[in-house]
Amino acid sequence: MRTLNDLALTNSTIALRCDFNVPLNTEGEITDDLRVAAALPTINALRNAGARVVILAHLGRPEGTPVAEFSLAPVARRLSEMLRLPVDFSPDTTGDLSIIEGLEPGDVALLENVRFDARETSKDPAQRRELASRWAVWADGFVSDGFGVVHREQASVTDLAQLVPNAAGLLVARECEVFERLLKGAERPYTVILGGSKVGDKLGVIESLLPKVDNLLVGGGMAYTFLLAMGLEIGNSISQPDFIDDVKRFMSQADDRGVNLILPVDFIVADYFSADAQTKIVDRDSIPVDHMGLDIGPKTCDLFSKVIAESATVVWNGPMGVFELEPFAGGTLAIAQAMAASDAFTVIGGGDSAAAVHILDIDNEKFDHISTGGGASLEFLEGKKLPGLTVLEGK
Ligand code: 3PG
Repeated sequence: MRTLNDLALTNSTIALRCDFNVPLNTEGEITDDLRVAAALPTINALRNAGARVVILAHLGRPEGTPVAEFSLAPVARRLSEMLRLPVDFSPDTTGDLSIIEGLEPGDVALLENVRFDARETSKDPAQRRELASRWAVWADGFVSDGFGVVHREQASVTDLAQLVPNAAGLLVARECEVFERLLKGAERPYTVILGGSKVGDKLGVIESLLPKVDNLLVGGGMAYTFLLAMGLEIGNSISQPDFIDDVKRFMSQADDRGVNLILPVDFIVADYFSADAQTKIVDRDSIPVDHMGLDIGPKTCDLFSKVIAESATVVWNGPMGVFELEPFAGGTLAIAQAMAASDAFTVIGGGDSAAAVHILDIDNEKFDHISTGGGASLEFLEGKKLPGLTVLEGK
């Protein structure tokens, strides 16, 4: 994979793909700027090398038409504050030439949401290439730094990279280094914590990581399918019975390989899904038939925290409960705190777990790496080839 050092940067115009798919509140304000902050080192490296930086990015899934709520204008403002520099915002997704030609070395521009153009996400390579060619008119080089989107085959991720000299940005290089280490060279004891609501989303990751780890801790909504597989009552808790056979297979594989597959031993249950529902703590074999589990319980928090404290590598993907509602945030908070306190190499997979760390206000610096990729980090851990990375390895 080429790096920034492999590109001619001085006095050139670089198309930089970032992932600025950030959460916004109803007033259109950014509520978590992790992805914008993560882009700054590459932007500054390009500026310092004397390049003109033109950023391509997406927000949401506007499906090929301009939708005001998905405009990148708020990101342009935030980026400008963080860089302490004016950022030219081009409402034209292909790049307004009057803006681009007016840039000086070290200047930064951001183009409007590339997904406002249907060709960006088209399944037809000719259409994607047509859009990419518009950027290639002014781009002397392409830097891929939107790690969150490297699992997508899209014009601004894969096609432009084939038209002009390309390289990975600092963020993509760092994310790849971390995930390679988790796949190939993690220090033992190696612990993976998986949560989130659907076990179906995590089958590939379990398949890929089970042979590599010492401990697999399972929490969140996905744990209830494991309980079902053990023949336990789960009341009204979320589950995916279609995957019971997969789950049973994982349990027996873990047994055969000597992997500790550890399930919650207790839960916080509620009579209905609400922050003001009646809650109680029950052991996993005592979930009342008319209740639902919404978080792991205190004994499980202690058990998981102890395993984390004894590990040399810890990766976490997916919340332990409905952390957005205060009564069910304790499990997710306990895991985040145990990781923050540990001396292990700690990695937070992107998406919901990174959002939880932000919402629960835990210092980012306490972790070795917080990934900016949700789906991308999962697919990386599944061992899949990601098109946005493969393209950087080509000629
Ligand atoms: C993400 O938020 O995971 C990335 O920005 C990718 O977004 P997408 O799933 O809409 O392609």
